[in-house]
Amino acid sequence: MFKKINKIKKSKSKKKLVCLTAYSKPISKILDRYCDIVLVGDSVATAFYGMKDTREIDMQTMLNHAKSVKNNLKKSLLVFDMPHNTYRSIKEAKKNAKKVIGIVKCDAIKIESNGRNHNIIRDLVRSGFPVMGHIGYTPQFKKKFKVQGKESVEEKRLIQEAKMIEEAGAFSIVLECITKRAARNITKSIRIPTIGIGSSNFCDGQILVTDDLLGLSGFYPRFVKKYANLRNIINKAIRKFKKDVKNKKFPTNYNSY
Ligand code: KIV
Repeated sequence: MFKKINKIKKSKSKKKLVCLTAYSKPISKILDRYCDIVLVGDSVATAFYGMKDTREIDMQTMLNHAKSVKNNLKKSLLVFDMPHNTYRSIKEAKKNAKKVIGIVKCDAIKIESNGRNHNIIRDLVRSGFPVMGHIGYTPQFKKKFKVQGKESVEEKRLIQEAKMIEEAGAFSIVLECITKRAARNITKSIRIPTIGIGSSNFCDGQILVTDDLLGLSGFYPRFVKKYANLRNIINKAIRKFKKDVKNKKFPTNYNSY
């Protein structure tokens, strides 16, 4: 577990880290061939279940998805996104981290920063739980979307926050929707890799929600590049199936026993 974590840490400035989210077996099997890090993100709430926001997902649902992902990864580092209200105190965070690592056998957990919870990261790391930080637009704590780091005071605050998270022992940090300039300065100010989402190519790696990249989620903000349009492909397939059933072209003799 720690070997993989150290490899990620050492990759800083040497190679770009490729990271994506997974919630299921078929996707994890594919991602394992290409990704350094696979995240079971709380974005499962919105991208998969169509919930209003990521605060709605519960621990048990996340655990079920994570077990299926774990069973289908051999190579990539697996990170579990701690759901909202599961790390409000050191006691709660440790109890839940122990549960997650025990059940999923993932390599690390991710915690969104509220600007004050770096002590929780420190305690988790000291107890042997590898932690990925997350700053900028943190949907568990910020209700309204806003690009982060536009003003220089805000940029300074973000750099401070990243340094505190590094100092607490996190092995990497997600930077979500942070301006180019702030992302570059944060990345230069810390020795652990930054993983950007909507935060420019100045980060040490990139992460996207796989369902967005595949054109499946229906959520395509400017920072998402749609590499495929699975919605169209699925639509075509289902339309054809419907036609075949109506026209008695499916099942054929071959499909029957
Ligand atoms: O839940 C998620 O998918 C995430 C990524 C946006 C980093 O936290």
